[in-house]
Amino acid sequence: MKKKLLSMLLAVAMVATMLTGCGSDTTTTTDDTTADDVAADDATADDATADDAAAGDEGGAASGDVQVGIVLPTKDEPRWLQDQAQFEAILGDAGFTNQVLFSQGSSATEKTNVETLISQGIDVLIICAQDASAAAAAVEAAKDAGITVIAYDRLITGTEAVDYYVTFDSFSVGVAQGQYLIDNAPDGTGIPLYLYAGAATDNNAFIFFEGAWSVLQPKIADGTFVIANSSEAEALKDSAELSREEIGKIIGQVTTDWDFNVAKSKAEAHLTAAGADMKGDVLVLGPNDGTARSIADVFATDKDVTSFKITGQDAETASVQYVIDGKQSMTIFKDTRTLAADSVAMAVAVLNGETPATDTTYNNEVKDVPAKQTDIVVVTQDNVKEALIDSEYYDASEFTGLE
Ligand code: BGC
Repeated sequence: MKKKLLSMLLAVAMVATMLTGCGSDTTTTTDDTTADDVAADDATADDATADDAAAGDEGGAASGDVQVGIVLPTKDEPRWLQDQAQFEAILGDAGFTNQVLFSQGSSATEKTNVETLISQGIDVLIICAQDASAAAAAVEAAKDAGITVIAYDRLITGTEAVDYYVTFDSFSVGVAQGQYLIDNAPDGTGIPLYLYAGAATDNNAFIFFEGAWSVLQPKIADGTFVIANSSEAEALKDSAELSREEIGKIIGQVTTDWDFNVAKSKAEAHLTAAGADMKGDVLVLGPNDGTARSIADVFATDKDVTSFKITGQDAETASVQYVIDGKQSMTIFKDTRTLAADSVAMAVAVLNGETPATDTTYNNEVKDVPAKQTDIVVVTQDNVKEALIDSEYYDASEFTGLE
């Protein structure tokens, strides 16, 4: 036990160092692992405290090899490779045994991953859900096995089985996207506004849209902007606040499913259907970087679109290059170093029998989940170097055209 306590203290010290921004391993790397790698092949296990791992387990068939299990959604989006890189940077020294598994876009794989981790005897599960409500069954199984569940980035809804939540300030993400479009809109009124959203299965998609709507709606209601591609949003233009059901109706029309191809074909269909009055200088609410690049590529090839401003989020390297090149107007830096460090610090607290520090709560439809929230940073051509290079998140050599 003494050994376990010592390793926990070391881990806390290490996480504290990372939180103050002094971590030495701060460069994000992307690997070239392909989507068809089986989850088990990606597992990393650190055996530093393996002999202590079973301490505190209540028995059962658990092998007791792994203390903390981490489940991430997919390797197909660079966003989650950033998180993986940060976890890998921290976990080697975290002082507990761990395993990272990917769900590859499948709730069924996610459930199997959780079951695998339960059978390994984990005490803490850190999980970024593939689908907010489908993940409930997986975390309930974990809870039944006495495991503490930490939702990572995406809240799991409709279940009591979520103990903690680590997240970025997702409402602010949406506000920042909407406000960027307002601040950079062309002069005049009747400016076409194309809305796109994330996957309806992701609770964050609702929060992002709610944030964007909170600032865009007055501009739509007073005729400054005209919605080009959503009759549901148009019908709700006088409502300052939307219910979840109303947001769901809009998302139903303009969802990208967080998928580049869906985003591309929707953008193509919308521009094909749009009349001349919905072309010219236009604004596009792009929900995240991957989909924004797809949509931007489509808008860039329409000769009747004279100019467009488009938002994103995640500061993926490809989008940072798009921002530098003027092909995507902005992105939002969500520092995955902080999110990974916060969740690891929570796991350490739980393993030490302490209550993790939280600063807010998020309601998941059945309970207020104690949460730790991280601020976001808007990135444009003007501050890309300061936000992403000077902060050592990326290396300047990863980009061209940076001054
Ligand atoms: C995350 C975004 C990400 C999106 C698609 C959201 O839940 O917060 O950062 O772009 O999922 O993976």
